[in-house]
Formats: sequence, C-alpha cells, structure tokens
Amino acid sequence: MADAQTATQAPVVTRREDYREPDWRVPEIALDFDLDPAATRVHATLQVERNGSHDAPLRLAGDGLLALVVRVDGVVAEDWTMDGDDLVVPLSGAAHTIETEVEIAPERNTQLMGLYASGGILCTQCEAEGFRRITFFPDRPDVLSKYKVKMTADKARFPVLLANGDPIAQGDLDGGKHWAEWHDPFPKPSYLFAIVAGDLVANRGSFMTMSGREVQLGIWVRLPDLPKTDHALHALKLSMAWDEKVYGREYDLDVFNIVAVDDFNFGAMENKGLNVFNSRYILADPDTATDYDYDAIAAVVAHEYFHNWSGNRITCRDWFQLSLKEGFTVFRDQSFSADQGSAAVKRIEDVRGLRASQFPEDAGPLAHPVRPDEYIEISNFYTATIYNKGAEVIRMMATILGPEKFRAATDLYFDRFDGTAATCEDFVQSMEQGGGVDLTQFRRWYSQAGTPRVSATLTQEGGRARLTLRQVVPPTPGQPVKEPMVLPLKVKLFGAVTGRALCDEQLVLLKDESHEILFENLPETPVLSINRGFSAPVVVETNRTAKDLAFLSAHDDDPFARYEAMQQLMLDTLVTSVANGTGDHQAVIDAVRNTLTDANLDRAFIAEAVLLPSDSFIGDQMTVVEPEAIFRAREALRQDLGKALATEWRAAYEGSLANRFEYSPAAKGARRLKTVALGYIAASGAADADGLAFDQFRGADNMTDRQGAMTTLVNGASPLREEALEAFYTRYQGNGLVLDKWFQTQALSSREDTLDRVERLAAHPDFTLSNPNRARSLIGAFSVNQRAFHDVSGRGYRFVADQLIALDKLNPQTAAKLLPPLGRWKRFDEGRAAKMRAELERIVATPELSKDMFEQASKSLD
Ligand code: ARG
Ligand code: ZN
Repeated sequence: MADAQTATQAPVVTRREDYREPDWRVPEIALDFDLDPAATRVHATLQVERNGSHDAPLRLAGDGLLALVVRVDGVVAEDWTMDGDDLVVPLSGAAHTIETEVEIAPERNTQLMGLYASGGILCTQCEAEGFRRITFFPDRPDVLSKYKVKMTADKARFPVLLANGDPIAQGDLDGGKHWAEWHDPFPKPSYLFAIVAGDLVANRGSFMTMSGREVQLGIWVRLPDLPKTDHALHALKLSMAWDEKVYGREYDLDVFNIVAVDDFNFGAMENKGLNVFNSRYILADPDTATDYDYDAIAAVVAHEYFHNWSGNRITCRDWFQLSLKEGFTVFRDQSFSADQGSAAVKRIEDVRGLRASQFPEDAGPLAHPVRPDEYIEISNFYTATIYNKGAEVIRMMATILGPEKFRAATDLYFDRFDGTAATCEDFVQSMEQGGGVDLTQFRRWYSQAGTPRVSATLTQEGGRARLTLRQVVPPTPGQPVKEPMVLPLKVKLFGAVTGRALCDEQLVLLKDESHEILFENLPETPVLSINRGFSAPVVVETNRTAKDLAFLSAHDDDPFARYEAMQQLMLDTLVTSVANGTGDHQAVIDAVRNTLTDANLDRAFIAEAVLLPSDSFIGDQMTVVEPEAIFRAREALRQDLGKALATEWRAAYEGSLANRFEYSPAAKGARRLKTVALGYIAASGAADADGLAFDQFRGADNMTDRQGAMTTLVNGASPLREEALEAFYTRYQGNGLVLDKWFQTQALSSREDTLDRVERLAAHPDFTLSNPNRARSLIGAFSVNQRAFHDVSGRGYRFVADQLIALDKLNPQTAAKLLPPLGRWKRFDEGRAAKMRAELERIVATPELSKDMFEQASKSLD
C-alpha cells in the first residue's frame, strides 16, 4: 500500500521552511479517460516548461500508479525511472510534451481519494493529494494548468459526463459508448480537478450575475433524490448574490454544477465549476432533514461557492497556507449565514462549535498553529484550528479594521493575487495596506498555537473603576514559551442598579502581558461585560460574582454577552457541584426563569441560552475530568431546573406548537425551544413526559420534531424508547442519511447502557465502515459522548480503537480524523489515562498502519 507506514520506518516530515518553487511548470494538460469502474485508462498529455535555469529532471508524483507508457515529444521514452511512487523523467530542453498512460480501478478505491465509485457514480476527490492517484503530475498547489478533459464511457451506465469548466463537445460511439469534452479556461492546481460520470439528473436553475451574464446552475443527483434539491439550489443563488453584494465577487464561468454522492470523506469540495458534495449537505426535505441540516446545507453550499474566489481564483502556494483559503472561506460562510437569520444565534452556535472542537485541539497533543510548520500527512491538518480558529483570526482583523477598511483590504487582496498561489503573509499584508494598520504583532496568531487565557479584574474605587487585564498563552507541543498576542476585546460597563450602560462599547487591544484601563465618573457600581460578540477566541476569567452574571444574563445589550453570562453562571455552578458533590442551583434557576419568560427575546435565542454546557465543556474547565461526577452534577441541575420551572417549560412547549411545517427563522426557533423544553420536562420526571415525547414523535410533520422527540426518549427509561427507535428504523429503512441519525442518536444517549448498545450496533446489518457518514455516526458520535466513551472499564476505548484499526485498512483519512478523542488521556485520571495510552500504543504497533493514523496516534502518545 502506497502510504503504509510502520512504526519502525522513519516518517517523512514535510516542513514549511523547505518550500521551493517548482522545477517545472505545466501550463497545459489534456486528460483522456476511458472510464470503467474496474479498469479506467487515463492518458495524460502535459506541456511542461523548465522553471529557471537548473538541470533537475521532471518529477511527477504518483500514488500507487504504474506507468504503462511514457512519451517525450511524441517518442516513447525508455530512460524514465521510478523513485518510490514518483515518476522521474530526464529532460534536456526548456519545454517538452510529456505523455503518460496508466490504469486505475475506481471500484476498488476504498480510500475515496482520487477517482472512486459511490453508489454507481464515478467521481473524484483530489484535495489535497488525490490527483496523483489518477495520473502522474506535479501534484502541488503552486503548479497551475489549463485543463482539457475528454471522457468516454458506457452510455447506459454513465449517461452524464461532467468535468470542470465548460462543456465543449460530445458524441456517441459504437458499442453503446459515448464521450464528452470539457475545457476549463482558468488555470488551476490539480487539487481542484474533478470529473463525474453517472446516471444523474439535475435540478436546474440560472443566475444573472451583476455584469449581466447568465450562469446555468445544476444540482446533480440520482432521480429519486431530485425532490430534495430545491433548498441547495436556493442556497446557491443566495450565495452568488451575497458574494457580489458583500465582497464584489462575481462568478466567472457559464456553468456551475454540484454533484451529491453518498460516500465522501468530508463535507464537500470546491472543484472549479464542479463542486462535489457529501449528499448530507445537499439533500433535504422536511420529512428527512432537520433544521440543523437545512442550515448546514446552506452554509456548506455557500462555503464551497465562496471558494471560487477565496481558494480557486486565489489558491494556496503550499499546504501550510491552507488556512488562507479555509479560514477566510469559513469566515465568509459564517457571515453569510448570519445575514440569513439571527446573527446572534449564529454567533452562539459558531462559538459553541469552536469550544467543542478547536479549544480541546489547541489544548491537546495535536495542537498546531493556524499556519503549521510541519506535517507527516497533510490530510490530518484539515482541522478545527485551520478552519475555525483560522476564521476567528480573519474575524479579528475585520474587527480591528472596521467594515469599510476590511472591504478595501479584501478588494486589494483579490486584485493583487488573482490568478496566483498565495500565502497567509500575502493576506495579512493586504489587510495592513488596505486597512492602514500595522499587524506585525498580530501575525503571532498564525505562528503560535494554544488558546490565550485572559484574566479580567474590575475593581471599584469610589466613582472610578480599574480594569486589569492579563494574558497568558499556554505552552503547546514544540512551543514551550509564547509571546503576548494582540487580543481585540470589546468591553462595556453597565450600572448594577439601573442596568444602564455606563460607557460606549470600547475595543481594547490587549497587546502586552498586562494592561490597565481606568473608567472615571461612574454614577453607580459597574458590572463588566467583556469579549462581547466573542471578539477574540480566548478564555476569559473574571472576578464577576454569580449576581453579576445573572444581572448580565438579563440586561446586557449584546446578545452574545447575555448568552455568555448565563453559560458562565451555569459553568461556575456545575464546577462547584462536581467538586462538592452537591450544589446550590437557585441562581441558575432564577436566571433561566428570567430568560425563559422575557417577552422581548426570540425563541431561537432563548433555546440557546437556557441549554446547559455540555459534559465535555464542563470537563474542559477541570484539571482532571471526572466523567461520572460531571454527568451527575449536570443531571441534578437539569432535574432541578425542570422541576422548579415546570410551569414555564410547559408554557414554552405549548407556546411553540405549530400547525404545520415552515422553514423560517421564527418557525425554526419555535421548534428548537419546543424540544429543549421537552428535554427539561422529561428531566423533571413529570409523569406525562414520555407520553408527550411519544406524541411529538408520532405526530411530527418534520424531522426536527421527530428526531428531537426520539432523542428525549432515547435518553430516558420509558419502554416507548424502543418503540420509537423501531418505528423510526422501519420508516426510514433504505434512507442512508436518516439511518445515520438513528445510529447517532443512540450513540449519543446519556443512558448508562449506551456502551453495550453501541457495541451491538456495530454488528447491525446496516452498520458499515465503508461509508464515512455511517462510520462517523456511530464511532464519531460515541467518542464525544463523554460518559459512555470514558466508561471506567476502558471498554469504550477498546471499542473505538478496534473500529479505527479496521477502518484504517479501508480509509485512512476518515479513520485518522476519528482518533483525537483517544489522545486526550492527559486530561483524565491515571487509570483511564493508562487505558487510553494502551489503545494508542496498540494502534501505533499495528502492521501496515497508514501514515495518517501513525501521525495522529504517535503524536497523541507524546
Ligand atoms: N476544501 C474542502 C472544503 O471545502 C475540504 C477538503 C478536505 N480535504 C481533506 N483532505 N481533508 O473545505
Ligand atoms: Zn473549504
């Protein structure tokens, strides 16, 4: 196997500082595919040009390929060699035509990188290094080529043939075959190459660009899925209009196609003019998709579309610059989603996601900077740090510049680097020049890993108050000592008595280790509101009392800060209860009552604000995570909230019932609050709770309500839970995306027997490791279920390790992505830590382990 890596072999480390320009450029490439699932012939013709004066041979990357023939300027060459997987061709002149021919077997490609088969469709995934599994090529993002692609295939099995760019010609052949040719006029790196062949139909639309060009849009799926594509098509049109309005960016080809496939390693891929998507981010109708799914579809469609400028027109010089396109594009899709509904709720969701995935990554053995310095396998670096912390870094620059200057700076960036492979440094320089600011120290956000911690102490002296800020950036692997960062903190003071604002919001740039700010002429005792809107991705510790937090949760005029005050109040309460075995819940109860009954708040916000922090996030606040104690403390608080506010939860529940499904911000908010209220009613132990949940389950006209009710039942003790699970399974048999929810809901259950059930589910006939969504829905979900995964027996660890070892043989990328929870052993007691390490050691010692898994597991042992 090409990327097999045993623990005894020295891993090949790629370093950012070793970057050199390519020896050879490839301005043009023509590809000719004779497509067949068992044996596809790929004939490639490369126009190569020597880059500068050197005598290095042409080195073409391959991965598992065998050259059937190599021609140089039309003549069969004999002097080529293989260096490992690479094809090396000695060349004498400044420019040559190179032809190669290989044969590949898409139906045997279980890694889902390169050309593979999914449900009868042939499709490609090339980012980051999948193109070398299709043909020999300098497979690096700074080699930009114009592509001409011809595909020939059986017409009955593959009536639709798609590639990047524009369709040029097509025709029929003898023997039931046909062909199609596509040209992409925009030079692009190989990772953006794509072809698709299949029995597909399109939901078609069109979009008139701001300069008056009409673009033909198509969402391609298998016929039965066609009715589920309207939402994605609508989201695409909204995205195209949004990028024109907000960034002045217009689409540049005459066609834009999206194809949905069931087997996909991640969310979607921004191939030029031909996005390929995981079907879970395309297909939606009310019966099968939740509101969360609808929102995620719009966000991912937008994300991939926005890459056309932030990624394709301007690409990355090397993979260390990955956040240049991903951080910026996530920031763009987050802003887009914020503009579609409640910006406050969107910010809350994004911060919750950051805290659930990026903060733990930054605090663990796999912590790395937004611009990493080295990697063994680049696929391991498609992380929450590159994507989500990267987006926060862009957001901070946007905050520091302000909206007008940020737009001027992005205009400058797009103008200056269009058509090139750029770096994070290029982006920051554009921000500096377009915005007229100095970001010298700010650049540390790209080089230093770890989540900064800020302590903020407000002390009052008569009519004055002093705010003392201190920052610490914790050590991370390879970075024991850190320099202070630039932290943009939005700050405001409120009067503790009147609730009035005592000053305007200020943007404080904390640059030194410590800093003091004086507030004068304060008419009353101030309460501190800080990191409003989550202006910096940091942990803030304050000297605010429970009373201050309760006050802010009711009076702060920044919705995020209100949410945050409530979360902090809940967290403080829970951490104390875990330590003492019991806690005083009154302050939380009063604050939740206030929020729940505040007629000025919308339901979506209320639903977010009254949710308790997750088990894992509570654990993140502790020196040693105690899964059982955390679970008990959280359940006790849930129960008390359920009982004390029984009337209020009922009112919220009944006030949120709807007559029929509608997809609008208000209707989504009502559904969210309804199910959150149902959860608290169940937690209170109300006699009718299970019946209420089962009625919601049975009567639901949409998946949000149905899955919400099923989740409540699956966490509970009622026999109705088995009935609900069975009804759900029967109803959706054959619908893979919905069965994923069935597996996932059980894997996330808070019940004591979850581990047993998950082990049984792994043997269920519908469970398979070969579909990444299915693998993630069971293994991925289970390993973030803190209580079940960290079962003191260590069986949870063993189960996950067994599954990952098996999955690694099929699909190393997806396996390696699921490893990090096992690597968090330093956060647990000695007994658990030893058991987690033992599993990591077992993984590292597995024969023929992929380098993907080797990197993740071996780094996690350090
Ligand atoms: N660029 C894709 C996106 O839109 C993701 C590609 C992920 N590739 C990988 N090897 N993990 O975010
Ligand atoms: Zn992306």
